[in-house]
Amino acid sequence: MIKKEDLNLTMLGIPYVKSKHLNDMQSEKIIREIEYANEFQESCDELYDGFYTRNVISRHHYLTNQINKHSNSFEQLLILSVGLDTKPDTLFSLKNKKCFGLDIAANDIKNIYSYSKTKTKTKILQCDLEKDINSTILEELEQEGMIHSKPTYIIWEGGTFFISKSNVYKVLQYFCSHINIVGCSVDFMSKEVFSPPRHKKANEHLQLMEKIGAPWKSFFSEDELVKMYEELGFTNIDITLHGEYEKKSLGTIKLDNDIMYMTTAVKFSS
Ligand SMILES: C[S@@+](CC[C@H](N)C(=O)[O-])C[C@H]1O[C@@H](n2cnc3c(N)ncnc32)[C@H](O)[C@@H]1O
Repeated sequence: MIKKEDLNLTMLGIPYVKSKHLNDMQSEKIIREIEYANEFQESCDELYDGFYTRNVISRHHYLTNQINKHSNSFEQLLILSVGLDTKPDTLFSLKNKKCFGLDIAANDIKNIYSYSKTKTKTKILQCDLEKDINSTILEELEQEGMIHSKPTYIIWEGGTFFISKSNVYKVLQYFCSHINIVGCSVDFMSKEVFSPPRHKKANEHLQLMEKIGAPWKSFFSEDELVKMYEELGFTNIDITLHGEYEKKSLGTIKLDNDIMYMTTAVKFSS
């Protein structure tokens, strides 16, 4: 058994939710033997109106839609803060694409795949997005088969808020300058809901993240996001409120409508 203390529990709850609510067999296989996989998800859900589960389901639907919509425009997928994301292994639209994932917990991720005897097509590389954004990571991606000149799409799901605001910008800026990034879909926690916290539940959630050693560091407003994407050279920018996808995927809106911004920016006309 993999020791609980050695793992990032924020990432483990995601396959748990996907196996329970989204019929994702790959996720089911990943967490089958890990009895504490839902521990963090349960504390979050209890504290804040089912936040963790509703957020994972809503953003999974958003990201899946965007990948399917744009899949003809890219050949490779770069997944930042990849965790145990199963999209490369479950989405038909990614079947013939090379997928690369970066994560600070790459060893944990590989251990979990190996422990659960599950294979992923994603090439997973160790990378602290706060520190390791330099030519070495580009070389490592190349060694794994990435061709930097090929049209590449970025997804960054459930990950930006663990990184400081200036580093979020730096990461996107670096990859856009060195790889042929044609588009990206990224989610961001809302400044309006969390900074300062709009209500007691938002505040308690931030405290919980601090307590488990995974503090949230960045929150954005809609204006800041548009400005950032424009500076990065994207011409087509779409910002969707979490509530819209919560309603589409779960039928009701129980969280703050604007708790998260789900964004897609592309360099082609969509
Ligand atoms: C909530 S999980 C999301 C995982 C995945 N994107 C998904 O949606 O299934 C957050 C992920 O961010 C990663 N992470 C946190 N800080 C990071 C950093 N500084 N650099 C790279 N990855 C980081 C964690 O290891 C974890 O896998």
